[in-house]
Amino acid sequence: MAKRRKNGLYSGISEELSALMRTGWADTEQHDLELAEQAPYAAVRRAALSARFPGERLVVPSGNLKVRSNDDTYPFRPYSGYVHMTGDQARDGALVLEPRADGGHDAYCFQLPRDSRDDDEFWTGSHAELWTGRRRSLAESERVLGLPCRDVRTAAADLAAARTKNPGAATRIVRGVDPALEAAVATDEERDAELEAALSDLRTVKDSWELAELRKAVDSTVRGFTDVVGELSRAIASSERWIEGSFFRRARLEGNAVGYGTICAAGEHATIMHWQDNDGPVRPGDLLLLDAGVETHTLYTADVTRTLPISGTFTPLQREVYDAVYAAQEAGIAAVKPGAAYRDFHEAAQRYLAARLVDWGFIEGPAERAYELGLQRRFTMAGTGHMLGLDVHDCAQARTEEYVDGVLMPGMCLTVEPGLYFQADDLTVPEEWRGIGVRIEDDLVVTEDGHENLSAGLPRSADEVEAWMARFAG
Ligand code: GLY
Ligand code: MN
Ligand code: MN
Repeated sequence: MAKRRKNGLYSGISEELSALMRTGWADTEQHDLELAEQAPYAAVRRAALSARFPGERLVVPSGNLKVRSNDDTYPFRPYSGYVHMTGDQARDGALVLEPRADGGHDAYCFQLPRDSRDDDEFWTGSHAELWTGRRRSLAESERVLGLPCRDVRTAAADLAAARTKNPGAATRIVRGVDPALEAAVATDEERDAELEAALSDLRTVKDSWELAELRKAVDSTVRGFTDVVGELSRAIASSERWIEGSFFRRARLEGNAVGYGTICAAGEHATIMHWQDNDGPVRPGDLLLLDAGVETHTLYTADVTRTLPISGTFTPLQREVYDAVYAAQEAGIAAVKPGAAYRDFHEAAQRYLAARLVDWGFIEGPAERAYELGLQRRFTMAGTGHMLGLDVHDCAQARTEEYVDGVLMPGMCLTVEPGLYFQADDLTVPEEWRGIGVRIEDDLVVTEDGHENLSAGLPRSADEVEAWMARFAG
């Protein structure tokens, strides 16, 4: 008997209704599905993961639905390490690498199969296919992913059986993704963290398929920024909300969604690094800082910022701040090349900004001393960039020596995004500077001989930005 929903309007299910519901459904099994384009790349990534953990059982879950209230859930977003290793986006799944005697692994996937039509759950369960959409069958998943697939509902028993069969193999699982699966395996927290770090490490260098996806994300993002500039007069008549909506429409039309909460920050909101309320006025004379990225259908995201004069023209002071950030970004971008220390681009931009802040008299010099003490951070707030990929702050769990203490390599993708933020209540700067915030953010890929700016299609210098906006105003 299906459980009754509290305050549901139906008091129960008659046997006649139950019988009626179970019959008369067509066989919709898809026999002609092809291997996903990404599958061969995912296989190479799994081989790299396998090589790091010979003799150990690895479990990489995709995650579950998160409740928003009652039976309402947030949109599902799979764990990026799972997506990277499988190309799959299904909820309630997991990749397992089962160790072999030769030191390699056999890979398979747990998946939530299609709902059986032999009980009432398929039409009464609030997250059943009939309510939320068809899933793939296990056979369909096998064809698409190129991996053997098993029913996730027997995962605990299957993993227990694997332990019995191969008691010498320790199990590692990525924690914090699927609590039920985590409870089903006995693992060590520190060793599990090493698995998570390895999954992050293995994403620092993107393969050619990933770079093509990032290119798509950035290209759509460029079009989204163009939408916003084209609709600026409507935003002025409305609010930051209009801008958020314009960009989101592009993200949904061309991709999966936005890759992170869009920051539509006009006026003094531009000084708030993660302003996402997006409910303020858009006033000519102020700056608009728009930080937004389209996420592709395959979940790769762009992360781009432009700071625009809402009137179409920078005031002399706004331009002075903008030009300083632009020059800092140029210094940072120039430092992005293979073999450079990862920190170089950050340091180049921050040193430049420290010197400018000393020139302006906002921090005490000399500039090198100010930089060594980090005094510029009062106005620059954040680091100069980060890795980009499936997550906006990609590879965040990577080993430090592979990331911030590492060296740039071809295929790495990162943002370069210096900024200056003069808070509205900062008494250490003249009044006219207060409430000005500028960030310029581009997405770069390290190439064999330097870098490519994937977001170069968007105007960036102050003159280019003004000319761009003039084209829409005309
Ligand atoms: N959009 C977040 C960031 O720029 O890091
Ligand atoms: Mn960023
Ligand atoms: Mn950003």
